[in-house]
Amino acid sequence: MAHPMFTYDESFTNAVFEYCRERLRDDAPLDYGSHAPTPLPSLEGLISDDGRDPHEILALWRDHLAPHVVSVDSPGFLAFIPNAPTEYSLLFDMIVACSGLNGTSWLEAAGVVAAENQALDFLARRAGMPSGTGGAFVSGGSIGNLSALTVARDVGRARHPDLAPHAVRIAISADAHSSIGKALHVIGVEPLLVEPDDHRFTRATLEIALANDPHPETIVGVVATAGTTNAGIVDDLEGLGALARERGWWFHVDGAYGGAAMFSSAAEEFRGLRHADSFIVDPHKWLFAPLDCCALLWRDPATARDVLAQQAGYLDVLHQDGDVDWNPSDFAIMLSRRARGLPFWFSLVTYGTGHYESAVQRGIDLAHYAATLIDSSDHLELVRPAGLSVVLFRRPGWSDQDYTAWSADLLRRQIAFVTPTKWEGETVARIAFMHPDTSDELVREILESLR
Ligand SMILES: Cc1ncc(COP(=O)(O)O)c(C=O)c1O
Repeated sequence: MAHPMFTYDESFTNAVFEYCRERLRDDAPLDYGSHAPTPLPSLEGLISDDGRDPHEILALWRDHLAPHVVSVDSPGFLAFIPNAPTEYSLLFDMIVACSGLNGTSWLEAAGVVAAENQALDFLARRAGMPSGTGGAFVSGGSIGNLSALTVARDVGRARHPDLAPHAVRIAISADAHSSIGKALHVIGVEPLLVEPDDHRFTRATLEIALANDPHPETIVGVVATAGTTNAGIVDDLEGLGALARERGWWFHVDGAYGGAAMFSSAAEEFRGLRHADSFIVDPHKWLFAPLDCCALLWRDPATARDVLAQQAGYLDVLHQDGDVDWNPSDFAIMLSRRARGLPFWFSLVTYGTGHYESAVQRGIDLAHYAATLIDSSDHLELVRPAGLSVVLFRRPGWSDQDYTAWSADLLRRQIAFVTPTKWEGETVARIAFMHPDTSDELVREILESLR
C-alpha cells in the first residue's frame, strides 16, 4: 500500500482542477493584499499530528487567504512591475508542478534543458548576441544580476593581476536597479556610481565620471539598464557597450523589466545589446510567463561555467561529457532548479512570436495613451515622457499622504492597484502597464480618480 502522502485522491484532484479552471476561465479578481476589508484568519493550530481535510483547507485558502493577495495577473495590476502570465504558460506550469522535475542537469533532465535552451537561444538571437550564447533560467532578475556580476568580478580580477583583488570596481548608474547595488555588496565590489544624464546612463556620463575619478584603472566592468524600473529609460547600450569593448571591461545589461521591448517599436534602442557579455531579461515580467523566471545569457558560457559550476564528488557524474552536457546549474548561482523556463517555452512555441510582439507593443501604446491624456488634462502633469510602458505624473498640490490615500482607495474600490513612487525626491504617481487587456477605459477612470 502506498504511503498516505503518495496516494492518489480523485475527489481532491478534481477540486483543485476545478479551482484552477475557474481561475483560468474568469478574469482574475484584483483582490486586496494587506488592504483586505476582512482580517486575515488565524492559522494557529492548523499544523497537527493527524492533518486535516484538504477540501476544508482549500476552502480556507480560496475564501480567506487568496483575497489577501493582489492578483498580479489582473489587468488592473499597474504597480511596481506587474506580471501577466499567458493562459498556456499557466497551464504548462501545472504540468511542471505535477511532473516533479529537477532542471539541474542534462543527465537528469535533458528534455527540459533542450526546450529551455531553445527559448534562451531565441532571446539571444533577438538580442543580437552571437551564436554560442547560452545560459539558464534562474529565479529572478536579482539572482541573474548577482550571477552576472560575480563572473564580471572574477574575469576582471583575472585580467588585472596588477590590482589587489578587492580593488576592482564596476561602474553603475545611480538609476540602476537596487539589485545591482545589492549584488555588488554581496560580492564585495565597490561601485563607481555614475550620475546619469537626465536619468540615462551614457558613454559621455561614464567618461566624465572616469575623468574625475582618482583610480579609473580599477574599473573592470560596467552595468547598463535596458529599461529602468522607475521610468522605463533605456541606457546608452551602444555607447557603453562600445566603451567596455575598447577598455576590455565586462559589459552586463540588466533588461529584467525592459528587455522585452526588443520585441516592440522601441527595438532600435536595444541594438547595443549585441555587445553584452551577460544579459538578463525576466519572462516573469513583460514576456508573460509565470513567476519565477529570469533568462540569464552569457556571451561566453564556458567562462561563466568556470566561475559558477559547483564541484563535488557526487556531482562529478554531471560533468562527464564536458562541453556536450549542458547543466543549467553550471551557469548561475544555484544547484537544484525548478524547470521554470518551460512554461515560457511552451507559450512562446504555441502562441508564436507575433502575439508576443503585439502584447508587448500594447504596453507601450497604453503608456503613450495615458501620457497623452495626462498632457491634455487640466488636473494632472506629466513628470516626463512615457518610458517604455511606464508613465510618471503628478497631481499638483498633492502631498505624499494624498497619493497614498488615493492608491489605497483605488484598491479598496477594486478598480486598480497603482502605487506612487519617488522621483527626484518628490512623491508622484506611477503606472506600469503590462497586461495587454488593460483597457483604455480603465486608464481614463484611473486618471479621473485623481481629481
Ligand atoms: C531593471 C530590474 N532589474 C532587476 C530587477 C529584480 O528582478 P527580480 O524582482 O526578478 O529579482 C527588477 C525588478 O523589478 C528590475 O526592474
